[in-house]
Amino acid sequence: MSDALRDLFFGRRQLVETLAPRRTFADVILPPPTLEAIRHALALIRKQDLIFEQWGLAERHGGGLGLAFHFAGPPGTGKTIAAEAIAATLGRKLLVVRYAELESRWAGQTAKHVAAVFREAAESGAVLFFDEADAIAARRFTNLSQGYERDSNATVAVLLSELERFPGVVIFATNLASNIDPAFERRIRHHIRFEMPGLGERERIWRAQLHATKTPLAPDVDFPALAERFARSGGDIKNAVLKAAQIATLEPGPDADKRIEQRHFVQGMESVVAAERVMAQSLFEGEPQGGAAGAALARARDRLLFAIAAAALAVSLIALGVALARG
Ligand SMILES: Nc1ncnc2c1ncn2[C@@H]1O[C@H](COP(=O)(O)OP(=O)(O)OP(=O)(O)O)[C@@H](O)[C@H]1O
Ligand SMILES: [Mg+2]
Repeated sequence: MSDALRDLFFGRRQLVETLAPRRTFADVILPPPTLEAIRHALALIRKQDLIFEQWGLAERHGGGLGLAFHFAGPPGTGKTIAAEAIAATLGRKLLVVRYAELESRWAGQTAKHVAAVFREAAESGAVLFFDEADAIAARRFTNLSQGYERDSNATVAVLLSELERFPGVVIFATNLASNIDPAFERRIRHHIRFEMPGLGERERIWRAQLHATKTPLAPDVDFPALAERFARSGGDIKNAVLKAAQIATLEPGPDADKRIEQRHFVQGMESVVAAERVMAQSLFEGEPQGGAAGAALARARDRLLFAIAAAALAVSLIALGVALARG
C-alpha cells in the first residue's frame, strides 16, 4: 500500500474504507423500476465476466472493460446500501471513497489520491464506490483562472482516464442528477434513479429497521399508519427508529418490561423532522448571501431599514420646522 493510500485509509476520519458488505438485497427496499434497473446492472456485470474472461476479450482489448454506474437520488434513499448489496451479491468487497471530504481535505492532491484508489480497487477486485460524488460528476469549469478550478479539472481528467482503464465495477453516488459533465456522461452510461419511497415501501422500510425477533414491540404499533403519516426517506425512518428505541428505554420500570410503542415511533420521527428544520434554519441564518431567498431577504431588510431612517429624518425635520415657526 502506498503512503498516499495509507494516509487515506488510516487518517483522522477514514476517507477511504474497505467494507465487507453486510447488507444484501433482502435489506434494500426499493420501488420496482429502481430494483429492475439494479437487476439489469447486475446482469451486465455478470455478462461482463463472461465476455471478457471466458470469451477472452479482455486479452484483446486494453481499455473500456469496466462498468460504471451512476446512482442519483435524494439523501437517505438507499444508494449506499444498494452499492453494498451489489458488492455482497458479487462476493466482493466495497471500497468506499468519501469524495467530497477527500477533495476538501486534500486540495491539490486529489488527483493523486484518486489514481491510488483505482489502483487499490483493481488489485483487490473490490467494487469501487464514490460516495458524495456531486463535485466530480458536475460540469468541468471552463474558466481556469483559479487554483481550485484547475485542481478540479485535473482530478476530472485523471478520473476519466482511470475509468477508461479500470477493469472492475465503479459506482458514483450523487444527490444532484443534473449537471453531469458530458465527458462523464459518455463514460457512465448506466444511470439509476433512487426515488423517495412510496407508501408501501415506507411501511416495509419501517419493519426492516427492526430485528425480526429481538426488538420488543407494543401491540399498538401500526406501521401502515406511520408510513401514511410521514412521507420521509428511508434514512429518516432509520433515524426515527433509533430515536424511538432510545425514548422507549428511558421509560420507567424494569428493562425486561419495556416495549417500543406507537407513540415512541411518532415522537422519534417528529424529532427527526424537527432536527432537519433546525439544520435548515441555521444554514439559512449562517449564510445571509447564500441562495436567492437569502439575498431577497437581505434586500428586503435593507429597504425596511432605509424606510425607517427616512421616516425618522422626516419627523425630525417637521419637528424642527414646528419649533422654528413657534420661536
Ligand atoms: N430503500 C431503503 N431500504 C431499506 N433501508 C433504507 C432504504 N433507504 C434508506 N434506508 C436506511 O437508511 C440508511 C441510510 O441509507 P443510505 O445511506 O443508503 O442512503 P443514501 O441514499 O446513500 O444517502 P446519502 O445520499 O445521504 O448518502 C440505511 O442504512 C438504511 O438503514
Ligand atoms: Mg450514501
